[in-house]
Parts: sequence; C-alpha cells; structure tokens
Amino acid sequence: MSQTNMSAVDYNFDVVRQFTVMTVIWGLVGTLVGVLIAAQLIWPALNFDTPWLTYSRLRPLHTNAVIFAFGTSALFATSYYVVQRTCKTALFGGKLVAFTFWGWQAIILSAIITLPMGYTTSKEYAELEWPIDIAIAVVWVCYAIVFFGTLAKRKTSHIYVANWFYGAFIITIAVLHIGNSMAIPVSMMKSYSIYSGATDAMMQWWYGHNAVGFLLTAGFLGMMYYFVPKQAERPVYSYRLSIVHFWALISLYIWAGPHHLHYTALPDWTQSVGMVMSIVLFLPSWGGMINGIMTLSGAWHKLRNDPILRFLIVSLSFYGMSTFEGPMMAIKSVNALSHYTDWTIGHVHSGALGWVAMVSIGAMYHMIPLLFNQGRMYSIKLINTHFWIHTAGIILYIVAMWISGVMQGLMWRATNTDGTLTYSFIESVTASHPFYIMRFLGGVLVVAGFVIMLYNMIKTIRAADGSLQPIEAV
Ligand code: HEM
Ligand code: HEM
Repeated sequence: MSQTNMSAVDYNFDVVRQFTVMTVIWGLVGTLVGVLIAAQLIWPALNFDTPWLTYSRLRPLHTNAVIFAFGTSALFATSYYVVQRTCKTALFGGKLVAFTFWGWQAIILSAIITLPMGYTTSKEYAELEWPIDIAIAVVWVCYAIVFFGTLAKRKTSHIYVANWFYGAFIITIAVLHIGNSMAIPVSMMKSYSIYSGATDAMMQWWYGHNAVGFLLTAGFLGMMYYFVPKQAERPVYSYRLSIVHFWALISLYIWAGPHHLHYTALPDWTQSVGMVMSIVLFLPSWGGMINGIMTLSGAWHKLRNDPILRFLIVSLSFYGMSTFEGPMMAIKSVNALSHYTDWTIGHVHSGALGWVAMVSIGAMYHMIPLLFNQGRMYSIKLINTHFWIHTAGIILYIVAMWISGVMQGLMWRATNTDGTLTYSFIESVTASHPFYIMRFLGGVLVVAGFVIMLYNMIKTIRAADGSLQPIEAV
C-alpha cells in the first residue's frame, strides 16, 4: 500500500481516499432509493408487480444504504483521516486497514443483493441475516484494532476530543451489534432471535436507539469536532464543555431506547425511565451544538464566502433542532400523537438529511482536495449550488412530513359525539397525498445535489496535480 506524504509523517491516505469516494457514490445511491420509495408511496404501481421492487423490500435497502453504506463510509474515511492527523502517526494494522475497506464494501454489496431478495431478520436497521452479521462483527473488530492501535502509538501527549467520540462510537456499535444480533440459525439465510416477546423488542430498540445515538450522533460529533475548527480556522470554543458533554451524552443515550416502545407490552416503569432519560438528553446534545456553533466566534463573516463552512454550521442547526424535537416526542402524551405518523419520518430526516448528511458533505468537501493534492475543489460555485439545493430539499421534505404527521395523528384520534371515529383510515391516506408529492420533490433536489457533488469530485480528482489553487472569494 502506498503512503502519501502531506507532512513529515508518512500518513496512509489510500484507505481514506477509497472510503471518501465511496461515501459520495453511496450517498447518491442511498438517496436515489429513498426517492424511489417516496415515489412508490404516491404511485404504488411503481413496484411493477415485481417482488424485489416492492416497498417492503426497498425500504430497508434505503435505510441500510444511507446508514451503513453512506454514513458509515463517511465515518470510516474521516476517523482514519482524523486519527492520523491528530495523533501525528500513520494508521496501525498493516493489511488490516485495506481489509476494513474491502470487507465493508463486500458487506454493503451483500445487503444490496439479499434485501431485495427478501432475506431479512425483520429487526429494523439490523435486517441482515446471520452470515452477514458475523462478517460485520469481524470487520468491525478489525476497525477497532486499527483505530485504537493508532491511538496507542500516537506521537502526541493527549487524545484530541474528536477521537473520544469516534472511539465511543466504535466500541458501542460493536457491543450493540453483537448483543442484538444473537440468533439461532436454521438455514443459510434464516435465523431466529434468541430473545422473545417484550425482551426481544427491548433489545431491538436498545440497539436501534443507540445506533442513532452512537453511529448517527457520536460518530458524527467526532467529525464535527475536527472539521468545524479546521474549516473555520478557529480553536474549539470550549474544550471543557466538549469533555462534559461527551460523558453526559454517552452515559444518558444508552437508557433512552424505551421511548420507541411507549404504550406497548414493555413494563410501564421502563417506558417512564426511557422518557425521563430522553428529556435530560436534550442538555448534552445542545452542549455539543453550542460548542460547534460558538467555534465560529470571531469568524462569522466566513459564512458569507465559504459554502463548506455553511454545510457544517447548518448541519449543527439541524442537529440542535432534531435533538430538541426528539426529547419532546419522547414525552408519552406527545408520542401518543406522533407515533406511527409521518411526524417520526420528518424527525428522522431532519436528523439524517440535515445533521448526518450535511456534516458529512462538508467534511468530504474539506478533505477531497487535500487527499488528491489540490488546493480546493474544482468548483466552489457548484458547492454553493449544492448547499442551496440540499437545504431547499430538506425543508420541503421535513415541512411536508410535519404537516402530514400532525394531521394524521389528529385525524386518527378524532371522534364524533357518539364515540365513533370521525375519519376512516383511507381518508387520512388521501389527505396525506399532496404532502407525499412535496416530500418526493424535496428528495429529487437532494439527489440532484449529490449528482453535482459527484461531478465536482470527479473533476477535482482528474485535474492535474496542484492545478486547483485556493481563491479568496466565491
Ligand atoms: C436527544 C436526542 C433525541 C431524542 C430524545 C430522540 C427521540 C426520538 C423519539 C421519541 C422517536 C420516536 C419514537 C417512536 O415514536 O417510535 C425518535 C425516532 C427516531 N429518531 Fe430520534 N431523537 C433524538 C435525536 C435524533 C437524531 C439526532 C437522529 C438522527 C440523526 C434521530 C433519528 C431517529 C430515527 C432514525 C428514528 C426512527 C426510529 C424508527 O422508528 O425506526 N434522532 N427519536
Ligand atoms: C433523497 C433523500 C431521501 C429520501 C427521498 C428519503 C425517503 C425516505 C422514505 C420515503 C422513507 C420511508 C418513510 C415511511 O415508511 O413512511 C424513508 C425512511 C428512512 N430514511 Fe430516508 N430518505 C432520504 C434520505 C435519507 C438519508 C440521507 C438518511 C440517513 C442518513 C435516511 C434515513 C432514513 C431512515 C433511518 C428511515 C426509517 C425511518 C423510520 O423507520 O422511522 N434517509 N426515507
């Protein structure tokens, strides 16, 4: 494996380049599948009566593609980059490093094949069957060896805070994945969970919620703690706050899973613990958001000219918004209205498209020129266009879902004076239709943004070494 020399240390950036390119490609693929399922909810005939194109099979393909292909590739790319730069040493692990790249891509490929074929454990975000689960555990342990091995041989005295978040994400995802995937195989592609009934549900949402807390949150906070200060050229606002909110975040998140199971067979006190922990979780979440945004103190003017910084800062605003909304939705009486409705889908995508996708896109735009020996991306104007298209797409998406979600919740609970339901279910479906079209249009904008990003990346990679020099203003 060749080594790239960007300073006195011989860093291994080959694997970072590979994961970076795949992040952009999987971002496009995952959102394209999202647009297809959004279209199927408007025009059901789009499944063409083909089993492997049905909504039920493509929906998990979408969630797996965006979380484990797009999001996790972004986390691999940035964690490998950040741990090397902040520890001033090359990656530990020799051939294990390349194995994590090829192993992870093989896992994604097996998901792309098996999910449309209908193989599923039926556990959300953990649908892949047992042979693939074992492969995930193996690759993940290798990832941990590479990451923590690099930390152990660091040339710096302290461990930069971004690595704390990446480290917590890597360890916790291993524990969650192994814990929730325990199953008894009955054939090559079929297994049964070792848990049953309410215990199975509890395990599943302990996993599901912490996949959100540690993969979609802690990992991306690691990303934020490196790329926001770098892009803003300012130190982190408060190192002390970063440590306090790190410990508060990781010790609270793990208890909040039961908010996914309000009013179910789960013991009532467990639901209440989940609710209380979720409400308290608001504080450390906002600690992170404030620390990120305040890092811009004295450099706010940069937002005017730098669309990469805009991606990063707006992502933090969406993080703040979804971590305000989440604790509210965890309150049992609010959840009685929001659960099963599109409100949840709106919440998910303000976190996913607003926070996760925007912070990743910003980090990719920061890294791509550095990784391919350029001073900047091929076109800053196109980054700017991407920013506005993506932002407009998210707003269309989440506003549509909020309106249809609250409307559905209210229609389902409305009763006449004689106690009968005011609306039939199909009336609520018909009423949601215009909002599904609005969400679809938002999705098309997001996909268009990814196409622009892919083009910009290819042009940057193909440009002659060093030919793209930084320019002052757009
Ligand atoms: C303090 C932080 C947060 C809290 C307390 C919280 C709380 C909640 C609640 C109460 C639900 C609805 C559960 C239901 O009715 O079924 C939910 C769903 C969800 N949230 Fe959050 N949320 C938070 C932050 C986030 C963030 C930042 C993201 C994404 C990046 C996110 C992703 C999701 C997802 C994917 C679901 C849907 C799970 C499913 O049913 O499949 N959440 N959250
Ligand atoms: C073009 C962009 C996107 C579109 C059009 C889109 C569309 C959709 C649709 C139609 C659903 C199913 C909703 C339902 O069953 O009612 C869905 C679910 C979901 N999407 Fe997306 N999506 C997009 C981007 C993303 C991204 C970037 C992420 C994550 C980083 C993401 C994560 C999820 C998750 C976690 C769910 C499951 C939510 C739940 O079960 O509550 N999506 N998406």
